[in-house]
Amino acid sequence: MMSKSDKPLVIVGSATMDLVTRTPRIPATGETLIGTAFETTPGGKGANQAVAAARLGYPVHIVAMVGDDVYGPAIVDNLKSAGVCTDGVAVVHGSSGLAPMFVADSGENSIVVVPGANGKMAPADVDRHADLINSAGMVLCQLEIPIETVSHVLSLCARTGVPVMLDPAPAAALPEAVWAQVAWFTPNETEAACYLDGGQSAEVTASHLLDRGLSAVALKRGAEGAYIATAEGKSGWVAPFAVDAIDTVAAGDCFNGAFAVALLEGLDPFSAARFANAAAALCVTRKGAQASMPARADVDALLAGNFSMTT
Ligand code: RIB
Repeated sequence: MMSKSDKPLVIVGSATMDLVTRTPRIPATGETLIGTAFETTPGGKGANQAVAAARLGYPVHIVAMVGDDVYGPAIVDNLKSAGVCTDGVAVVHGSSGLAPMFVADSGENSIVVVPGANGKMAPADVDRHADLINSAGMVLCQLEIPIETVSHVLSLCARTGVPVMLDPAPAAALPEAVWAQVAWFTPNETEAACYLDGGQSAEVTASHLLDRGLSAVALKRGAEGAYIATAEGKSGWVAPFAVDAIDTVAAGDCFNGAFAVALLEGLDPFSAARFANAAAALCVTRKGAQASMPARADVDALLAGNFSMTT
């Protein structure tokens, strides 16, 4: 268990503009559907996780890249207005990361990520923020920036002892050295299956992942809750909060931001996952990615059994 930290959460990852088409259902290949709405709204797994943590009142910095296009300033402004420190955001020539997506009435989604500026973040760009990264209580990464850059962050943190939570989203092959450098690995069911021989029970998945050298895993299982397992031999399910989902975009990101905050605040992993489940449950009751991240008071109310969906 981590002791309570007075150090910030530092996110090294993507910041994107989501191009959201709302539709009755996800269209089949070759099908034309009439949509119900279209909106541009800030997203990107790194930025979403940063906003999730900031909305919960924790100090958060992001190291990211946006383009010098129309979307870059809007992405940065949204991070700032959520309370995320954006001193680590660089503007590069070309397009910002973009994510065209369908969100169906059922709340399900289908997303394509076009990396743009996110794909340009190199190890040298991370080195410019080495002092910030070394000052972190935890670093949180995803896989929407180049893998060699994520790998570099992990090596940097391994040298200085900063714990790293790696959200392997979207799933991609990882260098062997990564496994021993990760403090928390947080795949959803689809992502976890990519690192094994297909889908397995949460218990088997966790055991296979730990065998690779990981210290701890938090398996995000959506409406089933989360499964926690550590190399020290602690494991178990953490129950979900039942809500009516209208938009599941960024629910996993919400879990990650909240889980990192709760661990930094000194909660044990099971209590931290309960806190993160509560945050993610509120997230799916609201539309959008960063727009759906809940405030601390709402999460605390849900945990206390006092939250009313009409408030
Ligand atoms: O996890 C949700 C996010 O995935 C979206 O905001 C989109 O930008 C993609 O990165």
